[in-house]
Amino acid sequence: MDDDHYSLAVPFYDLWHEDGHVPLIRELLPPLLKGVRRSVMEIGAGTGLITRVILQETPAEVYAVEPSSGMRSVLVNRLAEDREALSRVTVLPCGGLEAEADEPVEAVVMISVLQSFDAAQRADLWRVLRRQLEPGGLLLFNWRERATPEPGEPEIVGSYRVGRHTYEIAGQVLAVAGESVKARYVYRVKQRGVVISEDEVLSESHWPARERLVAELEGAGFARDGAPDGMEAWRLPK
Ligand SMILES: C[S@@+](CC[C@H](N)C(=O)[O-])C[C@H]1O[C@@H](n2cnc3c(N)ncnc32)[C@H](O)[C@@H]1O
Repeated sequence: MDDDHYSLAVPFYDLWHEDGHVPLIRELLPPLLKGVRRSVMEIGAGTGLITRVILQETPAEVYAVEPSSGMRSVLVNRLAEDREALSRVTVLPCGGLEAEADEPVEAVVMISVLQSFDAAQRADLWRVLRRQLEPGGLLLFNWRERATPEPGEPEIVGSYRVGRHTYEIAGQVLAVAGESVKARYVYRVKQRGVVISEDEVLSESHWPARERLVAELEGAGFARDGAPDGMEAWRLPK
């Protein structure tokens, strides 16, 4: 990824997401991974918070796909703390559309990444994932219908103490067009209330309606499997 806007957010990532989707995924993902034994491709592995869940819950080899060099640095350093993890995880420094496993995988896991793909890219993504999965392969991702956000003022969306400093994240919806949302995030470090570091990240994310997502996946040859609220499980035919 040339434009590694994630790198500015990396120091804040685990603080914010350990307080967000990650604890819920730790509950919802393990039962869906039951029976997966040989291989998993994780799209958008980030700093490895979910990679760790996959490693704990399966004996599988993992291909961790992560385009951001900043996120990948944390991921590899996390793996380096655990010899077994280092031997089981291959980190692919590319985006999901370029991902290639050496052999077709049993399952693909994609947590909080789908929104990075616009509608045209999603069409390519389903084709790529279909090719990466073995017959009968399982696609797992988190997804929830959400109300269309409204453009508004910046709001503090996270604030964490790190020693004597406070790490603070402010988020603001700038514009909404169809399924796409433009937002601005400001990542600040404060010392005794005074800002000592500040970075702005502009992002665009894409939130397809359920019917559209279902039509895309069915059109790409996937069939829906059972999953709890908040997760989606889809399978290829055998
Ligand atoms: C919100 S983070 C989620 C990270 C991890 N899955 C988790 O739940 O902690 C989104 C991740 O997707 C990655 N990403 C963005 N665009 C991507 C793409 N086209 N292909 C694969 N990953 C992508 C980002 O670099 C980032 O690490």
